[in-house]
Amino acid sequence: MEDLKQQIRQLAKEKNAVIFAHYYTRPEIQECADFIGDSLALAQQATRVQADILVMCGVHFMGETMKILCPDKKVLIPDTNAGCSLADSCKAEDLAELIKNEKLKIKNNDAGQELIVVSYVNTSAEVKALTDVVVTSSNAKKIVDQLPADAKIIFGPDHNLGSYINSVTGRNMLLWNGACHVHSRFSLEALLQLKFENPGVEVLAHPECKAPILAQSDVIGSTKALLEHTIRSSAKRFIIATESGILFEMQRACPDKEFIPVPPEVTEGVGCSCNECEYMRMNTLEKLYTCLRDEQPEMIVDEQIAGKAVSSIERMLEMS
Ligand code: 13P
Ligand code: SF4
Repeated sequence: MEDLKQQIRQLAKEKNAVIFAHYYTRPEIQECADFIGDSLALAQQATRVQADILVMCGVHFMGETMKILCPDKKVLIPDTNAGCSLADSCKAEDLAELIKNEKLKIKNNDAGQELIVVSYVNTSAEVKALTDVVVTSSNAKKIVDQLPADAKIIFGPDHNLGSYINSVTGRNMLLWNGACHVHSRFSLEALLQLKFENPGVEVLAHPECKAPILAQSDVIGSTKALLEHTIRSSAKRFIIATESGILFEMQRACPDKEFIPVPPEVTEGVGCSCNECEYMRMNTLEKLYTCLRDEQPEMIVDEQIAGKAVSSIERMLEMS
């Protein structure tokens, strides 16, 4: 494994390539990366680096976002099949239909209300092209707070994140009914048991988790916010309700602290019983190596779609 990591680093140097990895990827991928981050940090960093090639070890929409922001760079992703159940829960044609219907309602009511479409970054380029402003879990509250108070807001696709943002902003956004299959499966029963067995331990959760899990949490935030909290906090033990890949970086940053992952509900015949995103795990060292060597698969985004999507992502970067 060490050999392969060295070869990857060597290839990246020769090709003037920069490797990005999301916190949910395998530990060995994170060890190979130049930048590790949450979806906001990765998008921001991509616009700042000087490189010929950007390699995005994450999921498809992250590579797409990177290509939209950096159209002149070659963007590679180790596996084009690394999708996202949340992004898949919102098809562009369905969102277009909802927007059309909501516009019609506003017109019929003669309310003259502005309609604003806010989409989580976990969406396809086609959905971003229909969106006014993109958000991530890091900046959703900050951005929604800046929108006109009397506007009608459609928020999608994550229903759990949308409900959470409604609760902390006092808004009444119309929510899409999408969810992440990893975050929506954490077991409340297991979390309560862990809290009972570990009194006084801090509970940290990602806002993609369901409301009853968030209600039991001390800190709610993006992967980066949770990581930073574990570094800052004087607590020594934490219960973590998000994808377990983040535990690698938490443990690396705080070797003297203990992190206890919340297990998912076990539903017979449904997926695995771990809290890993199988899409993120599709990024392996072997695929990263061949992707850099062959400069394939390359992320290509339809120019017209990218042209429409870029303004919603740039608006997010301005408002963050
Ligand atoms: P972050 O915005 O925290 O990186 O989350 C992305 C994601 O896919 C969560 O499941
Ligand atoms: Fe998508 Fe969920 Fe995986 Fe995040 S953890 S990439 S939201 S499927």
